Amino acid sequence: MYKLIPGTRDILPQEALLWQRMEAACRSVFSLYNYHEIRTPVVEEMSLFNRSLGETTEIVRKQMFVINNKDDNYVLRPEGTAAIVRAYIENNMDKAGGLVKLYYMGPMFRLERPQKGRQRQFHHIGCEAIGSSDAGLDVEVVSLADALLKNLSISGYIINLNNLGCAADKEELALRLRRKIKDLLPKLCADCNQRYDSNVMRILDCKNPDCKTALEHLDLDESHLCAGCRKHFSAVKTGLDSLKIAYALAPHLVRGLDYYTGTVFEITHSGLGAQDALGAGGRYDNLVKQLGGPATGSIGFAFGVERLILAGCGLKPAENKITSYIISLGDNARSSALKLLDTLRRNGISADTDYESKSLKGALRKANDYGAKFVLIIGDDELKKNTVMLKDMESGEQREVKVEDVVQELGKDLVT
Ligand code: HAM
Repeated sequence: MYKLIPGTRDILPQEALLWQRMEAACRSVFSLYNYHEIRTPVVEEMSLFNRSLGETTEIVRKQMFVINNKDDNYVLRPEGTAAIVRAYIENNMDKAGGLVKLYYMGPMFRLERPQKGRQRQFHHIGCEAIGSSDAGLDVEVVSLADALLKNLSISGYIINLNNLGCAADKEELALRLRRKIKDLLPKLCADCNQRYDSNVMRILDCKNPDCKTALEHLDLDESHLCAGCRKHFSAVKTGLDSLKIAYALAPHLVRGLDYYTGTVFEITHSGLGAQDALGAGGRYDNLVKQLGGPATGSIGFAFGVERLILAGCGLKPAENKITSYIISLGDNARSSALKLLDTLRRNGISADTDYESKSLKGALRKANDYGAKFVLIIGDDELKKNTVMLKDMESGEQREVKVEDVVQELGKDLVT
């Protein structure tokens, strides 16, 4: 018997109803903020991510789902941002002028060691606003993330906020980190010792408990920021304060991907355990140019859908009840039952029938399982009179209705 690949999951119909609700709730919030949906392929060129995320990042070094192809190196996308910037440039979206605000939902793939809240195929709901460096946009994006969580009835999260600064500031930050971390190296894991030379900022992302303890008291602040970045950061904080969006300053937050500059944020939830990030994002002001587009500011974020569910998304799954269930008694009634079934469906009335030759009792039980509001019974008697026996499953009332009146009868009841 075949089994799931580790780190992947089936989303069965009952759970899929919750996913549909969540997606619909997020779509309605994205519309309020004037973001439009984009769908990009799940396969992309490997080098797109190598260049965007950085050769020394965990994802590129260890977690890519590579598709072995004769001449090309493809991967299953590990994240959406680089792919959307690729689409933005390739489709000349910059030529239309101005800011482009996009949202997306879909599966992402990372070859990680599976554990609670960490899968190899997981799903993002995210957005990217490409085409502005305005601090007001940072406020909008953080506020949008907050509004999504509120609309999903999730509470108890913390918005951790930091600013990495421009490219020059990031270099300055790396320099300072190298100075501060040097004496701590013996206490850090082998990977962090390697990162010290290759990409010192990644040391702050290390999940090793010993490294976390050693780095806990590392004093970091805003002093690596140039005047322009400091002003931007200050405007973002003031904007969030004026919208009464609570955040925690997190000077240790550097994010695991190289494309980030300026504002970065991560939303954590204590109910998630070790993998406590519900979602994260930030500015990537140099990425569009780096991938061959115009120099333009951009910012976005992505939530992990599985983690939104783990954090107790308070939405109730959509109901999946049907309006009517047809039971035919005997072969003669069958063809007229199938015809009526088709008529109901084509008139927008959800309907089903028994395909398993159940007894009347069994078929009624099935109708009950489906939550059918009405059962329509057709036997030899009804067939002769061209009628059906209409049973209201809630009240238990039964009445005979002419076949040609069924649509109208059920339709009437649905409206009232
Ligand atoms: P990320 O932090 O790598 O950022 O992923 C965003 C969220 O996806 C995480 O906070 C987490 O909830 C979820 N996630 C990540 N990996 C896994 C996994 N293996 N299993 C389950 N959930 C996971 C990005 O991907 C950026 N593209 C976000 C962004 C958009 N930045 C700017 N725009």
